Amino acid sequence: MKLILLGAPGAGKGTQAELLSRQLGIPTISTGNILREAIRNQTPTGLKAKALMDAGQLVPDEVILGIVAERLSREDCQNGYILDGAVRTIGQAEALENMGIHMDAVVSIEVDDAVIEARMTGRRVCPKCGASYHIVANPPKTADICDVCGEGLVIRKDDAPETVRQRLSVYHEQTEALKGFYEKLGKLKLVEGNQPIEDANRDILAALGVQA
Ligand code: AP5
Repeated sequence: MKLILLGAPGAGKGTQAELLSRQLGIPTISTGNILREAIRNQTPTGLKAKALMDAGQLVPDEVILGIVAERLSREDCQNGYILDGAVRTIGQAEALENMGIHMDAVVSIEVDDAVIEARMTGRRVCPKCGASYHIVANPPKTADICDVCGEGLVIRKDDAPETVRQRLSVYHEQTEALKGFYEKLGKLKLVEGNQPIEDANRDILAALGVQA
């Protein structure tokens, strides 16, 4: 299964990708997490991406395509993968098609902007493994500690309310059009994201025709 998760910032792409990765037995590729790791390691890519990410802007297509092509060439992607936020412009989607990388399905998690803004204020993330939590909807077992790797959780810099509004407007201007692109290819599945995590997950599995 080669799957893209689309959706506004905070729609729940990372949360659902983590669940689906376990359920489908395929890896998740999150360009956001890869870029944040590059920033922590102060690589040339990280240095290029930092100011753009902090401002809620997209990183250039060629940087993203390089990251995605390298990651997809690894052994663990042979049986499929989940692209979490890894395709955000028509240019990126066309480039993947031209590289012969065709998806089986593209799930768009549909969430109202007002719900997004409320969700982001409660998000906490693990700076080490990238796991994402919410202080009410999806709390870690021990407050402020990552369930997966035990690292202390942090608030993402780009979750400041002003930056979230900027990211939402970038989503509407540059990413939302991907729904039309993949609809024309017969790949698009819309899933209601204004509902609890487990319910959204059940609906995604149903849309993919996978038994829970
Ligand atoms: P990225 O890290 O991908 O950020 P994003 O798309 O803005 O998405 P988020 O990670 O903020 O949200 P999410 O949808 O994963 O939601 P989550 O599951 O965490 O990208 C960051 C930046 O990197 C971009 O702004 C850009 O600069 C750059 N970048 C990355 N990829 C790029 C690309 N392809 N091209 C160009 N630039 C790129 O959930 C959010 C919160 O809500 C959590 O607290 C969670 O617990 C909670 N939650 C989730 N689902 C529910 C639910 N159903 N009910 C209640 N709470 C929920």
